[in-house]
Amino acid sequence: MNIDVRVTGKTKLLGLIGDPVEHSISPELHNSLSSLLGLDLIYIPLKVEKQNLDVVVKALKSLDFVGFNVTIPYKRDIMKFIDDNTIEAILMGAVNTVKKIDGRLYGYNTDAEGFLRSFKEETQTGFKGKKVVLIGAGGVARSMAVKIASEGVDQINLVNRTKEKSIELAEVVNENIKEVVQVYSFEDKTFKMAFDESDIIINTTSVGMAPDIKQTPIKASFFNKNHIVYDVVYNPTETKFLSDAKKKGCKTINGMGMLFYQGINAYEIWTGVKFSENDIKEIYNSFKQILNDK
Ligand code: ATR
Repeated sequence: MNIDVRVTGKTKLLGLIGDPVEHSISPELHNSLSSLLGLDLIYIPLKVEKQNLDVVVKALKSLDFVGFNVTIPYKRDIMKFIDDNTIEAILMGAVNTVKKIDGRLYGYNTDAEGFLRSFKEETQTGFKGKKVVLIGAGGVARSMAVKIASEGVDQINLVNRTKEKSIELAEVVNENIKEVVQVYSFEDKTFKMAFDESDIIINTTSVGMAPDIKQTPIKASFFNKNHIVYDVVYNPTETKFLSDAKKKGCKTINGMGMLFYQGINAYEIWTGVKFSENDIKEIYNSFKQILNDK
């Protein structure tokens, strides 16, 4: 038997709390990053039941945890146990990354930063002065709307199945960041016009995710070749939403990069490391491979 020296008595801890956690790719990603950098850190999945959330957070605070990720369904609930949440995370209403510094817990949201980084990487452009259609008004849409409003977007045309939720989201952004969100229903005639004039179209809903791969939130006839089209869904790698857009000549991007960069960002927050572009490329290729094999 070979002695496995990856975990020793000195190893520091990282982890993921959520329910479920079995599907998560974060352990593979973060443990690979630590191996690559030679850092003595280990990342473990921690499935937590709702009634135990407070006890678990206290335990993580008292143990040798450098930090941890938070996933569904605790991204909002976790916030009341955190000593300091960033202003951005408060506006987004969600924390997915926690760092412990001198016994205090600091809460961050790296989902939207991950989205922004992957978007910039894939398109070599940002959101300043752009018109955007944002489909959905859940947690992901809120994080993105806060982020792109802060980036100087010109207009966010927000559309969701349940209009009340879009109105609430619009208020958060318009009152706290910038008056940029305009709410539409899918049936509004003016929505098609707003869609035509937009530069970037983003789907934040799970519509089209496996196994319901024939679904799409938008009619194919809405797209034109000037649109950059982003889907947070990455399974399948090309949703109907993206393939419809591609057929019209649009640049299309799936949510794999967002998933990757939210993890990279969390790791950078915990360790202070800044990855080189070459490292990032190499890690991203291995990450896509692991994701495809899952
Ligand atoms: P997340 O954190 O992933 O954003 P969420 O907060 O549950 O998840 O939000 C899910 C979003 O997808 C919502 O905008 C939801 O629309 P409703 O507000 O009307 O519920 C949208 N969504 C989910 N399933 C949908 C479907 N079948 N058709 C249209 N929209 C859907």
